[in-house]
Amino acid sequence: MANKKILVVGSANMDLSMNMYKVPEVGETLIDDGGVAYIPGGKGANAAVALTKLGSDCYFCAKVGADLHGQKLYQYYKEIGVNTSYLKVDRENPTGLAVVMKESDGNNRIIVYPGANSNLTVDNINEAFECQPDALYLGFEIPFNIALSAARIAASKGIPIFVDAAPAGKDYPLENLPMLEVFSPNEAETETYTGILPQGTDSALRAALALYKRVKAKYIVIKQGERGAFVYDGKHFFVIPSIRLGKAVDTTAAGDAFTAALTIEYLRSDSIRNAVKYGVAAGAITVTRRGAAASVPTEEEVRALVTKEDLI
Ligand code: RIB
Repeated sequence: MANKKILVVGSANMDLSMNMYKVPEVGETLIDDGGVAYIPGGKGANAAVALTKLGSDCYFCAKVGADLHGQKLYQYYKEIGVNTSYLKVDRENPTGLAVVMKESDGNNRIIVYPGANSNLTVDNINEAFECQPDALYLGFEIPFNIALSAARIAASKGIPIFVDAAPAGKDYPLENLPMLEVFSPNEAETETYTGILPQGTDSALRAALALYKRVKAKYIVIKQGERGAFVYDGKHFFVIPSIRLGKAVDTTAAGDAFTAALTIEYLRSDSIRNAVKYGVAAGAITVTRRGAAASVPTEEEVRALVTKEDLI
């Protein structure tokens, strides 16, 4: 069977990743030599790397600056095998930069300077659809109107659309998105969109219903970290529990890996249940590794875990 061709329209960042035993309070200065590094990240790029490692032909439509970070990211994507035909260089803005503050329990706080990501254009996206993808994978770390244009182009061509709804904006006109296959926010993003923090089955169902009223999607999939994933199709819901593989060392990119894995497995199996299980397995492996794009697993690793846990 030929690999699925997936077009990712999203962000590319260089992450300034810092380990710390706790994030500073207001007015506090902390010195912490826990480690610091510049590493490839960005929600779109992490997903593009994951989709490539998980066995798709992934085309990445994004923008980086004409700077060292941009060059390093381009080189990295090439090494992984991400198709960079539609990776554009912005001569006016620097490459997107994310400051990732990682506490010792593996949790993180992230602030993003979007830089070149803000300058992705509808022309860039129109050009990228020349690759004739089997699916569009979309994130919101680019201007919402550009993400909306990408979704509309895909819909006009009958191409299924998978949305990782991150980061969330309270005022995003989600109603304007065309019919989606999957709309997937995490708990915090769900709260931003609906006002409901989905931390148990009842609240997850209420939040999913609220999202379903606003977003035209076949499936709402709420990523709940240690609680697993909650899936709603307009009539029924189910929960896929998370998998624990020892201590979580870094949750960065786990959500990106989850949605990317869900997307490729859904396209291969046409089963949302199997796809979410595969996504949960990919996320579980990702949190055991430090880093962003570099921490996402391969198809062999996810398949081995799925088999070991007897998931599919
Ligand atoms: O989802 C993790 C990513 O969010 C990081 O790599 C950072 O770049 C931000 O975009």
